[in-house]
Amino acid sequence: MTDQGQESPRTHSLVVMAHPAAASLTRAVTAAIVQALEAVRHTAQIADLAREGFNPIFGPADHAAYAAGGPTPDDVLREQRRIDRADHLILVYPVYWWSMPALLKGWIDRVFVSGWAFDEDAELGIVKKLDQLKVHLVALGGADKATYARRGYRQAMQTQIEHGIFDFCGAPVVTSQLITTNHPDAAALPLEAAQSITRRLS
Ligand SMILES: Cc1cc2nc3c(=O)[nH]c(=O)nc-3n(C[C@H](O)[C@H](O)[C@H](O)COP(=O)(O)O)c2cc1C
Repeated sequence: MTDQGQESPRTHSLVVMAHPAAASLTRAVTAAIVQALEAVRHTAQIADLAREGFNPIFGPADHAAYAAGGPTPDDVLREQRRIDRADHLILVYPVYWWSMPALLKGWIDRVFVSGWAFDEDAELGIVKKLDQLKVHLVALGGADKATYARRGYRQAMQTQIEHGIFDFCGAPVVTSQLITTNHPDAAALPLEAAQSITRRLS
């Protein structure tokens, strides 16, 4: 929070959460992020993919849009509009099998499509289209950080998600946190995670 008169411009965040349970650390971190954003008078909307029943399967209509220029499905258009309204896209998710949950991966598969996230130009090649979107990643894992380092899982997640998805579309990853839930002070995790983001809003 800056002094009155020197405040940074208000931003809007879409906080996408992919967790099936009503009570979870992922949900607590999501709530803390929204609270912290609102405390500094930025706005935020939660996209609770499980509760909203988002269909993560890249199905025939998605493929027809991709391969044959068919219409973009309405549920995908709605997600793209939510992202279009946001300055920051904040993904909060548990680590499943050293990556993101299928629900979130399917959201990416279906929403971050050619024509919206990037263009494929015969002369220019891939034209990145999401350079205005600032991305924050908050992954929560049950294993300890030494395991992530020893096996290269952290690096693998960064390569796939930060570079393979967001850099491909031109969206800068401003913060990327791996929160390991075996932390000695687990109660402090949601606020710490939220503050890492609110420090980097401008
Ligand atoms: C299907 C499944 C796969 C998981 N895979 C991993 C994994 O690969 N690495 C890891 O650190 N934790 C893994 N976990 C543990 C979750 O990441 C952990 O339970 C979660 O982050 C804790 O937060 P929550 O209370 O929000 O669920 C897995 C959990 C489930 C249910």
